Amino acid sequence: MSGLFDPFDLRGLELGNRIVMAPLTRSRSGPNRIPNSLMGTYYAQRASAGLIISEATTVGEMANGWVETPGLYTREQSEAWKPVVAAVHEKGGKIFAQLWHTGRASHSDFHGGKLPVAPSSIAIHDQEPRKTNLGPRPNDVPRALETSEISGVVADYSRAASLAREAGFDGVEIHGANGYLVDQFLQSKTNHRTDEYGGSIENRYRFLDEVTTAVAAVFGANRVGVRISPNGCFNDMGSPDYRETFLHVATQLDRFGLAYLHVVDGLAFGFHGLGEPMLLSEFRKVFHGPLMGNCGYTREDADARVRSGDADLIAFGRDFISTPDLVERFRNNWPLNPPSDMSVWYSHGPEGYVDFPAFSQ
Ligand SMILES: Cc1cc2nc3c(=O)[nH]c(=O)nc-3n(C[C@H](O)[C@H](O)[C@H](O)COP(=O)(O)O)c2cc1C
Repeated sequence: MSGLFDPFDLRGLELGNRIVMAPLTRSRSGPNRIPNSLMGTYYAQRASAGLIISEATTVGEMANGWVETPGLYTREQSEAWKPVVAAVHEKGGKIFAQLWHTGRASHSDFHGGKLPVAPSSIAIHDQEPRKTNLGPRPNDVPRALETSEISGVVADYSRAASLAREAGFDGVEIHGANGYLVDQFLQSKTNHRTDEYGGSIENRYRFLDEVTTAVAAVFGANRVGVRISPNGCFNDMGSPDYRETFLHVATQLDRFGLAYLHVVDGLAFGFHGLGEPMLLSEFRKVFHGPLMGNCGYTREDADARVRSGDADLIAFGRDFISTPDLVERFRNNWPLNPPSDMSVWYSHGPEGYVDFPAFSQ
């Protein structure tokens, strides 16, 4: 059995190892949401990962819901991504763009006073206030998308995929996790629609199916990954029928021949507690393509999961923030840098971003 440091053939894309840099929002794109050379430096420092998944990158104006995150909905943004992607490629790395629509996890401050959109008019409860460019705000009650609007949102994903392709990305990951728009459609807690996009599990899955079909038409399904978080409670998620829902999702996605299914299986970022957590081994039974695990993994757990055959790839988030040369450190058993202070996660500028040192003996 292969281990964490063995190469991996991701449906024709050769990865140097099985260690993936997880998508990490870092809010360094400025108010116009345009990537820049600082981001190129940051990603290039981490290019020894087998694969980098970019920070969540929005597919349109209404998709925005976080301060100073990048977009992929204008030519200017796609042009600005080019040198960032090239910096990773020059170091021999591979990079996918994570495509993001925040849905109800946004705020009217981001949309000139217009309410954020979602499958249903159900607000986020009991979570931290939303941070907007104007300060902390209570969560809005979102506006439910009209049935006739949904094809336009799917088209936004398609345009974002085209722009990602022009920018040189090796592929895209559809952000279907952590309570953002795709997850809001999938889960019964947030989708109370009575049209063909709500009600049954099959109907709730329809939006993701359409987005995947649209994006795969641009990139080829073998360059499209999907991220899901069946166990998570971030953004007030967690539905009693989570197991049936996510097994259906994985079974349906299996038909596409995707690059991978990325399952946030670990509980380190919160657990809805509605039953037993879903395991990678359950997904293995219904999804036959490459499988990626994430959340709270150590080098040892990750290697064991890959060797046992439960996962092909493991993504690391916080370790990659503080330790740019994570692969070399893991490979050589060198100590990692101390964890980053949370205050730098979404701060702006180079501090706490590109100033974590590589290992020196
Ligand atoms: C600062 C920060 C930003 C994050 N941004 C994203 C994101 O943009 N997209 C996403 O899917 N997950 C995001 N996550 C979740 C991570 O991808 C990952 O699931 C989480 O850090 C758990 O993995 P770890 O235990 O290896 O850190 C973020 C996490 C952190 C700490």
